[in-house]
Amino acid sequence: MHDDLINVLIIEDETYDVDRIKKTLRPYEAKIKIQDVVKNGYDALESIKSGKHFDVIIMDYQISGGLYGEALIKKIKSLDPTLQILVITKMTINQTDLSFANKLLASGAYWYGTKYPGDIEEFIYQPTDFVLSIMNAYALKQAEISQHIIRRRLDKKIKAILGQTPLLGQSPEMQKLNVLIEKYSKPNANVLIVGESGTGKELIAMNIHYLSDRKYEAFITVNCAAIPKDLIESELFGYEKGAFTGADADKPGLFEQANGGTLFLDEITELPQSAQAKLLRVLQEGEIDKIGRKKKYSVDVRVLAATNRNVDDLLDKNILREDLFYRLNILQIKVPSLSTRKGDIALLTNHFIQLYCQEMGLEPLILSPEALKVLENYSWPGNVRQLKNVTQRIVILTNENEISAELVKTCMGEIISLPSASSQPPEFSFNKILPFKEMDRLFRRKYIEFILRQSKTDTEAAEKLGMAPSNFYRSCKELGIK
Ligand SMILES: Nc1ncnc2c1ncn2[C@@H]1O[C@H](COP(=O)(O)OP(=O)(O)OP(=O)(O)O)[C@@H](O)[C@H]1O
Ligand SMILES: [Mg+2]
Repeated sequence: MHDDLINVLIIEDETYDVDRIKKTLRPYEAKIKIQDVVKNGYDALESIKSGKHFDVIIMDYQISGGLYGEALIKKIKSLDPTLQILVITKMTINQTDLSFANKLLASGAYWYGTKYPGDIEEFIYQPTDFVLSIMNAYALKQAEISQHIIRRRLDKKIKAILGQTPLLGQSPEMQKLNVLIEKYSKPNANVLIVGESGTGKELIAMNIHYLSDRKYEAFITVNCAAIPKDLIESELFGYEKGAFTGADADKPGLFEQANGGTLFLDEITELPQSAQAKLLRVLQEGEIDKIGRKKKYSVDVRVLAATNRNVDDLLDKNILREDLFYRLNILQIKVPSLSTRKGDIALLTNHFIQLYCQEMGLEPLILSPEALKVLENYSWPGNVRQLKNVTQRIVILTNENEISAELVKTCMGEIISLPSASSQPPEFSFNKILPFKEMDRLFRRKYIEFILRQSKTDTEAAEKLGMAPSNFYRSCKELGIK
């Protein structure tokens, strides 16, 4: 078991005590090897930095040279957090309270031992305890190293996940949002994320999880609207075998699967009342009501919830329980809609263009300034998701290297025709009353232009309007179109 040789560094300025340590360890020299002995803190740091391999450090508490005790422990741990430090000190001989020892442990020491009085020449400390502490310290070091390796791997994965779908935006609104995400990721409190459809609520929830201390644990997403209402409770809370006919095996619920991590409840307002009541209980007591189970089942899950609906309205109508709302809404994030941060459109569009070009193996495309203007002038009721979809259409349809305004308009045609409050402002104004005939003419002209914008040819437009092409053409001429 050569690999398991425990390499020790001794920090001790009294030769007498160094000898006592050596004597104590001599019977175990096949397993524990003293690699270096130094007299002060600075020499210890030098020795560690020199590349010598150590596993366990045995240090006296008070040594000369200025750097000692907790400060030295912290310095050593900052060089290599897996180094395990045993402190041997006289300070704890007559101690009745543990505050001194606790301070040592808090600063990073693995354990401490009280030195035998100076007149016991053979040993510095009860040999069995001393050696056992060194062995245990070594085992802990090995465990910490494998944990470090696993965590480094997980950190890489997390970076890849976040890098794949970055949360983009340089506008002041997005900068504020990023500060909030960072702040809200640290505490364990539940967060309610509200915002229009497609603003990035799910992406935000993911960012909160992966910036939190739960990042190595599960992140589970549930779309409450996507699960049939009568199945939602068994999905969330699970059931025990035999709970009802057909329950022929235990089913772990999503809360159980997310234990230790984060559960993202999307479209939370779609939860039926009975599930809302059960959810409230989990949030209040940290216990799940597993169907068919009498004993309590505790879980530690952070809940992030999202909705694109008007919460005040749903509370008024009792669709969302008020007590549940307060539990979910400990912290709240309001996601700004894309129309309030048009400055981000260029950045987002260019990112999506690059993404889809890469996906389709195309050379990168350039967005013309006119094309960007068209995108920036639109109101984007479907927010970033809609912009992403339009960009995909653009990349698929383009024949040129530079994206023209015309192409953008074509790709937006379909969505522009969707009813949206701000895309079709009313033309009526009390300051400017038109005679009916003129109004009628204006309306017909606007409507035909509107249909033309979403049609590739005049014939197509005529067809949409149920007109013969010849009639359509005449009307256009008469109305002064084209
Ligand atoms: N700021 C952003 N940067 C980059 N991509 C974004 C951003 N916001 C949203 N997206 C992308 O837009 C799409 C929609 O985002 P997401 O699903 O998070 O929206 P949502 O708010 O949950 O919408 P809904 O209410 O409809 O569920 C996703 O593909 C997401 O990656
Ligand atoms: Mg969503």
